[in-house]
Amino acid sequence: MPTLLRIDSSTRVEGSHTRALGDQAQAAWLAANPAGTVITRNTPDGSIPYLSQDTIAGFFTPPDDQTPEMKEATALSDQLIAELHSADLLLITAPLYNFGVPAALKAWIDLVTRMGHTFSYEDGAFKGLTQTKRAIVVCGYGSGDYLQGQPKEAANFLEPYLRFLLGFIGIEDVQVVSVQSTTADADTVTRNMDQARADLALMI
Ligand SMILES: Cc1cc2nc3c(=O)[nH]c(=O)nc-3n(C[C@H](O)[C@H](O)[C@H](O)COP(=O)(O)O)c2cc1C
Repeated sequence: MPTLLRIDSSTRVEGSHTRALGDQAQAAWLAANPAGTVITRNTPDGSIPYLSQDTIAGFFTPPDDQTPEMKEATALSDQLIAELHSADLLLITAPLYNFGVPAALKAWIDLVTRMGHTFSYEDGAFKGLTQTKRAIVVCGYGSGDYLQGQPKEAANFLEPYLRFLLGFIGIEDVQVVSVQSTTADADTVTRNMDQARADLALMI
């Protein structure tokens, strides 16, 4: 059964531009995959903790040698990675927070970016192991000029980071939809959202 894994990260549940675009992508994907399953992770809801000492120790301890504490501390990572491997399409919605990814999304990334599961290191080289091969990333920016070739490109640690990270874990096809200036006047926001919706419509 086709599976969409949706990872939201705006702390705003109401009035979020990135979530609104995520809703459009999800609806289009379900229209194209009527029998499909959608798995949703709302990362800011407190369900994704930061890495702990036992989580990291568990990551680097063979399963048979893990203590009960390590097993418990890595269980959520196991589950999130299983969700990732099961997905035909990964959809991430991500606002720019202080020039980077929201901490809640980083917490999810820290639990799924795991040696032996989503990447390997052999003979001096990293290799991505994620079975999902396609991602759509929706990026939202309060102001403008963050995109490639624009004046604030160097301050954008959101899109370049997510492109690199997803490539690192083996997701080869990453498409990005951006909406900038979401805190501008209403006409600008409407125009920019319309453009982002049109860009997204071409992807699914
Ligand atoms: C904590 C926080 C930090 C932000 N940092 C930036 C920033 O560095 N640059 C920027 O242009 N906008 C910044 N913004 C604005 C958001 O990127 C913008 O409002 C975006 O649309 C939020 O996504 P959403 O509409 O899906 O909630 C920030 C917003 C918040 C809440």
